[in-house]
Amino acid sequence: MAERLFDRLAAYYDVLHDDVDYPAECALLEAIFSTYLPHPPASIVDLGCGTGNHALLLARRRYEVTGIDASAAMLRVARAKARGRPNPAFVRADMRRFDLGRRFDAAICMDGAFTHLLTDRDLLAHLRTVRRHLNPRGVYVFEFAQALREETVGPGWIHRTGDPEIVWLYELAFDRRRHLLTSQNRFFAFERGRVARTFVNTYSTRVLSVPVLRRLLERAGMRLVRVASTDEGTRLRPLRRDDPLPMAVAQVDA
Ligand SMILES: C[S@@+](CC[C@H](N)C(=O)[O-])C[C@H]1O[C@@H](n2cnc3c(N)ncnc32)[C@H](O)[C@@H]1O
Repeated sequence: MAERLFDRLAAYYDVLHDDVDYPAECALLEAIFSTYLPHPPASIVDLGCGTGNHALLLARRRYEVTGIDASAAMLRVARAKARGRPNPAFVRADMRRFDLGRRFDAAICMDGAFTHLLTDRDLLAHLRTVRRHLNPRGVYVFEFAQALREETVGPGWIHRTGDPEIVWLYELAFDRRRHLLTSQNRFFAFERGRVARTFVNTYSTRVLSVPVLRRLLERAGMRLVRVASTDEGTRLRPLRRDDPLPMAVAQVDA
């Protein structure tokens, strides 16, 4: 399960993503809401919210936000950043099956959280759960891993210098039949020159073609209204076939 990876990674997640322009990504989400919703969303649910980077910014922009994540450690970081404020609310739950007993105007799922839904069964369970939590005409905006002509496989690494210094070695393999990219990882974090955390882990992510995504959404009662590439999350562009993480917008009929 992905939550085990993120429980181990939580303390380093934000430093590993310190190059992400979260304000620009939230501005893009607002632009999408204004295109597809008749009025600004009063409420937003952030699925796989992680350390809360989108949820916190959207709450500051006066939306009422609920963040959901399976990883207790990621949510601990998110709650610490919220400093006791009630908005956003953070809930530990599996985004394939949860029941908050209410509906939202919009749902989001950012930075690959969606790619951890590995089977058609998981994807359908998730999409039906999202559908049940959306108001009529509600939108679901999410990034998904697009099936590419050729997937990147083989060894790679991430090296972040500074303090903490992080070395992440990985080996990627692709299972064509199950549409799964599997990464075998060795992770090392050094703080003040000493090893602070190290772990070995294997996790998979699911790649999807647009037609398969469209069919799954229809089976869950939503329509795929847009698939686009984004310039580092800041603007919608025509979909590029070589874009590994495009953005999709799905909508519930009125
Ligand atoms: C790559 S992080 C993205 C975090 C956040 N959306 C962001 O943009 O920074 C993926 C997150 O999805 C969560 N996740 C993966 N599978 C999940 C599931 N089935 N239910 C809830 N959360 C899940 C992980 O715990 C992790 O926090």
